[in-house]
Amino acid sequence: MQTDNPAATTAGESRVAVPPQRIGVPREIFVGEKRVATVPDVVEKLIKLGFRVAVETGAGEAANFSDEAYRAAGAEIVPDAATLWATADIVFKVRPPTINEVALMREGGTLVDFIWPAQNPELMQQLAARHATVLAIDCLPRTLSRAQKMDALTSTAGVSGYRAVIEAANAFGRFFNGQITAAGKVPPAKVFIAGAGVAGLAAIGTAANLGAIVRANDTRAEVADQVKSLGGEFVKVDYDEEGSGGGGYAKVMSEGFQAAQRKMYAEQARDADIIITTALIPGKPAPKLITAEMVQSMKPGSVIVDMAAEQGGNCELTVSGEAVVRHGVTIVGYTDLASRLAKQSSTLYATNLLRLAEELCKAKDGVAVVNMEDDAIRGLTVVKDGAITWPAPPLKQAPAPAPKAAAAPVEQKKGGHGHGSAGPMPAKTLAILFAVAAVAFWFIGAFAPAAFLGHFTVFVLACFIGYMVVWNVTPALHTPLMSVTNAISSIIAIGALVQIAPPALGVDGRPDGLIRWLAFAALVLTAVNMFGGFAVTRRMLAMFRK
Ligand code: NAI
Repeated sequence: MQTDNPAATTAGESRVAVPPQRIGVPREIFVGEKRVATVPDVVEKLIKLGFRVAVETGAGEAANFSDEAYRAAGAEIVPDAATLWATADIVFKVRPPTINEVALMREGGTLVDFIWPAQNPELMQQLAARHATVLAIDCLPRTLSRAQKMDALTSTAGVSGYRAVIEAANAFGRFFNGQITAAGKVPPAKVFIAGAGVAGLAAIGTAANLGAIVRANDTRAEVADQVKSLGGEFVKVDYDEEGSGGGGYAKVMSEGFQAAQRKMYAEQARDADIIITTALIPGKPAPKLITAEMVQSMKPGSVIVDMAAEQGGNCELTVSGEAVVRHGVTIVGYTDLASRLAKQSSTLYATNLLRLAEELCKAKDGVAVVNMEDDAIRGLTVVKDGAITWPAPPLKQAPAPAPKAAAAPVEQKKGGHGHGSAGPMPAKTLAILFAVAAVAFWFIGAFAPAAFLGHFTVFVLACFIGYMVVWNVTPALHTPLMSVTNAISSIIAIGALVQIAPPALGVDGRPDGLIRWLAFAALVLTAVNMFGGFAVTRRMLAMFRK
């Protein structure tokens, strides 16, 4: 990064020709870490920004990206970490560097990485001593909507929430969805999610998609709608207290609230098959929400996935980094959920870093500029040219909506009918429409035959009733609705019955055999339509029943 180069230190200064910088991506050395900071598709885009890219041999292997793929994308493969760190102007990494890695770093080099400055003061000092510039991806101001494309915490938590459900499914001995099989009826699994932040919402969506009954709780009441939109049910604590601490995060709740919450969680624990806990207040130890007694009250074979294991766990019996069985309940405390889906999380992380590179290199000349006037970049920069600049001052501008929306899959439209979310029609438009309809009706009444008017009135009313019936039906139920209306529309049967019963007279005044046979065929076909329609509807509705 061109922070020590007088030609390109700050935005707005005149730039002289500077050779393109080299981005280096080392192999992660943290035990069990499978992720990598860039992927071949992103390498191509970094090169288009003007950068050169070097990747340590084997860096992407655990995430299924071969050296060959990186080379084909235009990266240079470097044989060892020492060469990579020594020759890179900018290093992209996932895990905070170790002391040895910092020692390998080029004097005055730049690092883009998860750093967690509050937890790693020594590392901060070491980086400063190397005169480094460090962009800590975990320090991104998440409330800046412009910064959401770089929000690696959100993409990581989203992947982890998904993986938590998969881990639960793996440890759970039954189906998630309810099924009616020849061998009997299988009830759906009941999943309770504690904390509906980014990871919690991802877990709710995944578990609901697998067919489970999903309930969730959060101290921030504002997430209730998001829980519902993902197919979950929001369970409230019977105690009036606002849980939002601002910026999309929670606050520590009062004793009274905590007691009421424990009572509700105890009931959920008795009922649920799977509990996934994600409750966290940044900078605080994880709240203990699931007590040993609650674990004991769960059915044997139940599963708890404690996503907050690394911060001490939301469950009293969690062992960080391990899956243990206590009172017949499997408690999963893995702290590497994102790494367990390495290809996906690497791809998302690499894209977050690409978006950051685009912000740093607006001129697309392969030279990154750390513009401390930019709120997002200022927030990220925790060390600048050897000076510790963390924590960043509070944001100057008013924060945009909380970042949660970025992780939440697309919400269903209001009312769930999926016919567009336009609000009520303005009164003026409505008045014009009514006037036009009244004139058209008067015109038909004045000139059309009397019989036509009667039929037309019935037709208009039928359209109105049909519209009112269908409009409020959930889109998921449209297909069963179609099949039932299909069955009802077999009113044609009445016509056939009239024809089949004597007298169905031919031209000579005697019952016409052909007409009666045609009527009989119509009746048979209509019967198929009618009974088939109802049978199909029944079967389709059964799929929605839990
Ligand atoms: P987040 O801050 O977006 O969500 C946490 C949620 O917990 C918030 O909605 C908050 O309101 C809620 N909460 C706080 N206290 C609560 C309480 N007492 N009762 C109910 N809800 C409460 O955090 P995010 O990104 O969703 O991460 C969730 C957890 O997962 C964190 O502990 C994080 O460190 C962890 N995590 C674990 C990973 C792993 O591999 N195990 C990977 C990624 C994240």
